[in-house]
Amino acid sequence: MIDWRNIGLFICALSIFPGVCFCATFVPEDNYLIDCGAPASTSVGERNFTSDSSSKDLLSTQDHIIATTTIKLNTSSDDAPLYQTARIFTGSSKYSFPIKQRGRHWVRLYFFPFSYEKYNLSAANFTVATQDHVLFSSLNMQKGPVLKEYSVNVTSDTLVVAFNPSQNSTAFLNAIEVVSVPDDLIGEDASALDPPEAYSGLVSQAMETVWRVNMGGPTVTPLNDTLQRTWIPDQGFLLEPNLASFYSNIPGVKYEKGGLVTENTAPPTVYGTLTEMNSTSDPRNIFNVTWQFNVNPGFQYLVRLHFCDVVSKSLNELYFKVYIDSKLAMASVDLSLYGNNALGVPQYKDLVTPLADKNTLRVSIGPSGENLNYPNAILNGLEIMKINNSMGGLIGGGASVASTSGSSSNKIGMIVGVIVGVFVALVLAGVFFVLCRKRRRLAQRKSKTWVPLSVNDGTTSHTMGSKYSNGTTLSAASNCEYRVPFLAVQEATNNFDESWVIGIGGFGKVYKGELSDGTKVAVKRGNPRSQQGLAEFRTEIEMLSQFRHRHLVSLIGYCDERNEMILIYEYMEKGTLKSHLYGSGLPSLSWKERLEICIGSARGLHYLHTGYAKAVIHRDVKSANILLDENLMAKVADFGLSKTGPEIDQTHVSTAVKGSFGYLDPEYFRRQQLTEKSDVYSFGVVLFEVLCARPVIDPTLPREMVNLAEWAMKWQQKGQLEQIIDSTLAGKIRPDSLRKFGETAEKCLADYGVDRPSMGDVLWNLEYALQLQEAVAQGEPEENSTNMIGELSPQVNNFNQDASASVPLFEGSNVDDLSGVSMSRVFSQLVKSEGR
Ligand SMILES: *[C@@H]1O[C@H](CO)[C@@H](O)[C@H](O)[C@H]1NC(C)=O
Ligand SMILES: *[C@@H]1O[C@H](CO)[C@@H](O)[C@H](O)[C@H]1NC(C)=O
Ligand SMILES: *[C@@H]1O[C@H](CO)[C@@H](O)[C@H](O)[C@H]1NC(C)=O
Ligand SMILES: *[C@@H]1O[C@H](CO)[C@@H](O)[C@H](O)[C@H]1NC(C)=O
Ligand SMILES: *[C@@H]1O[C@H](CO)[C@@H](O)[C@H](O)[C@H]1NC(C)=O
Ligand SMILES: *[C@@H]1O[C@H](CO)[C@@H](O)[C@H](O)[C@H]1NC(C)=O
Ligand SMILES: *[C@@H]1O[C@H](CO)[C@@H](O)[C@H](O)[C@H]1NC(C)=O
Ligand SMILES: *[C@@H]1O[C@H](CO)[C@@H](O)[C@H](O)[C@H]1NC(C)=O
Ligand SMILES: *[C@@H]1O[C@H](CO)[C@@H](O)[C@H](O)[C@H]1NC(C)=O
Ligand SMILES: *[C@@H]1O[C@H](CO)[C@@H](O)[C@H](O)[C@H]1NC(C)=O
Repeated sequence: MIDWRNIGLFICALSIFPGVCFCATFVPEDNYLIDCGAPASTSVGERNFTSDSSSKDLLSTQDHIIATTTIKLNTSSDDAPLYQTARIFTGSSKYSFPIKQRGRHWVRLYFFPFSYEKYNLSAANFTVATQDHVLFSSLNMQKGPVLKEYSVNVTSDTLVVAFNPSQNSTAFLNAIEVVSVPDDLIGEDASALDPPEAYSGLVSQAMETVWRVNMGGPTVTPLNDTLQRTWIPDQGFLLEPNLASFYSNIPGVKYEKGGLVTENTAPPTVYGTLTEMNSTSDPRNIFNVTWQFNVNPGFQYLVRLHFCDVVSKSLNELYFKVYIDSKLAMASVDLSLYGNNALGVPQYKDLVTPLADKNTLRVSIGPSGENLNYPNAILNGLEIMKINNSMGGLIGGGASVASTSGSSSNKIGMIVGVIVGVFVALVLAGVFFVLCRKRRRLAQRKSKTWVPLSVNDGTTSHTMGSKYSNGTTLSAASNCEYRVPFLAVQEATNNFDESWVIGIGGFGKVYKGELSDGTKVAVKRGNPRSQQGLAEFRTEIEMLSQFRHRHLVSLIGYCDERNEMILIYEYMEKGTLKSHLYGSGLPSLSWKERLEICIGSARGLHYLHTGYAKAVIHRDVKSANILLDENLMAKVADFGLSKTGPEIDQTHVSTAVKGSFGYLDPEYFRRQQLTEKSDVYSFGVVLFEVLCARPVIDPTLPREMVNLAEWAMKWQQKGQLEQIIDSTLAGKIRPDSLRKFGETAEKCLADYGVDRPSMGDVLWNLEYALQLQEAVAQGEPEENSTNMIGELSPQVNNFNQDASASVPLFEGSNVDDLSGVSMSRVFSQLVKSEGR
């Protein structure tokens, strides 16, 4: 008899020979492939299933019968031969598999209920269970072949799979696999859908794969999947097939070397094909594409969404939303964020649904209101996995059976005859594998492929971009085409009408203007230039014209005729974020609006840091440099001080540290070393400013309150941040949301840059804070403030009103703020008085 342990050793030995290893795919430590009742081993694609008659140690039973059929099945993969034989159990029976490596294993069960002699397997009434979980109940088993896939975390040295027939009934099995799963395939963490919060503890759950779907692509058989999974096409699940179209670009898939997502996560055929919105039905794409899947009520489901942007022509084109059962699951999916700014990098997102209360689950994708230029939404693959219930079971009332061998069930052919005979074959260990593949394990990785989540409902829609695209000077990329004739500028500003001035500073004036096509603009006119000014003016234009992002204020044009230095920016209707926080008497913003503004500006900064070959450091992040359009969409302005990082430019080390007081990274101050993390620090200060609605430096306050960053950190570290928030927000922030926000700001203000998060992390955390807040707005009535932040003690909160008086002293020019568009480098040279 075969000793399975020796086979294992043999396999291990093989896997060490590099010459035998053809590719770097996963080799399962435990790999039992058993064809029950088969006379000899059975080949299925590249895998050999051994007969359980040849390895009697595995099976312990008193009462079993070997049944065979010659019904020729027509399955989508090559597994049809496995269904030709079955083992029928008339009493309790079990297979015991010695486990070499504990951890997650697949248990795949193959059933085909045929009739054999007096046994009508369709009527068999039994359950299948492991030590910890009831996996399967034969109730309502479909007529055709059934392949069930489970994944269980085996925590002992043996996995027992027990078959328990009901009284007077039988159990049966055609084939079984017990195969190790790569440790990192299912991570610890996911996001819960409702309420939206982090979900952890996936590792201890048993799961059943209910659906595994390849959007817009063909069936992927075990042969084409490194983990022998089957992926079925999505057409049959589309509620309105006309609204969807399919796209394929398999060579466009770029797995990141050493990245979290590998071919084991899903094969290129899954990531390289997708279902997108069919824009011939409605070019504006104002609709959702929806799939519907049958599920069992009473269970939670792990929904894994696979994305890979192989369809966009350039970065930052694709933003969309995902709904699960009409709940917003992902707002503003921005795939470029997580691909190191390359297209075609596969991503996935794990979501855990609440207990299902109906027998369908819908997944929808639709465009995000933020993107009117290329409204589209995609989905590449989808896995829906049932999570065991609180009793540890995976079976429930009305168990429906999902078969991944699918639609061929109705095509069972004629019974030709019955093969009689049982062969016991000794199978050589060596035939187990033709391919030996060296196992690649990436150490200690957790499931952290977050795609940002938020519940931004798209109200902040962006209309500027489309207007501009047909504006006079915009369409082309070359700098020349940004050049605007002086006459046009004169006309736009009513010949520099003094009453159109929206800001004045040492650099000159900022005018509101309107181009001939009606586009509103902000026009900055510099004082007569020097030779040096000219060079910097040019550099500035070059830089600005390279950065196009919906969360960065964009340059529309410039004018250098007649010795002028004029920059023309998009006009930001609502001015600076700062003016909406304090000092201007504008109505106060809601918490949701503030979060959305923070998220937008974080996106803009993230793009600066990562969206270009070299990181660009803003160097002057402050609320006065965050501008708002008519929909309160935030855009980051003023790249006047921007430098590419992280190298230190010698000329800048010698000059004074730049930036604004109150926002300055202390590490930059100490070491004069500039990194992206300096922007992160400043952004942390902005976060507290947004929360507390007070100036970052306010000398009229008691000494310990003067510096907002210090003061807020003190309260944050005490865990009592709610004591100092803007009084107009009192009782309106959900504690979870505030906690997340406070923690995020605190991390940004870490003393050392290395301890601060990246802008991408900040962005994710803010989106999460928004989602936590939205959970209330959707679920509970606003009036129910019992779990809201209580009213504040007035003495710590009354600084909001009068503090603005001191702003100009410390904040630099008010003009800068009023203009909504502050000056570029060329101008900033002239603004020494501003305290940068
Ligand atoms: C099996 O299915 C294929 C394609 O679905 C079909 O062409 C073929 O005729 C079927 N064979 C039998 C025996 O039903
Ligand atoms: C087998 O059992 C099923 C379900 O009980 C029944 O519908 C079917 O007619 C039976 N077939 C035979 C051949 O007895
Ligand atoms: C199957 O067995 C269970 C328990 O033994 C019993 O309650 C149930 O009625 C049986 N179902 C059928 C269809 O025989
Ligand atoms: C099982 O069969 C015996 C006799 O054949 C019968 O007395 C008993 O009621 C049956 N039990 C069930 C649960 O059908
Ligand atoms: C299996 O469960 C154990 C204990 O719950 C856990 O430590 C381990 O990480 C899990 N393994 C996997 C692969 O999920
Ligand atoms: C599966 O792999 C084979 C070769 O290994 C290839 O020819 C075939 O196109 C692949 N099929 C799919 C659906 O990817
Ligand atoms: C897309 O929509 C158009 C118009 O409704 C329809 O004719 C076409 O068949 C659709 N395309 C797909 C792939 O369904
Ligand atoms: C898409 O579906 C969601 C959830 O059902 C719904 O709220 C939203 O309005 C739909 N969007 C469109 C454009 O139909
Ligand atoms: C699944 O079963 C395990 C015990 O094996 C249990 O700890 C866990 O809570 C169950 N999952 C759910 C969602 O109840
Ligand atoms: C499977 O077994 C057959 C004969 O038993 C052998 O010819 C074949 O090479 C084996 N295939 C693999 C993948 O081991």
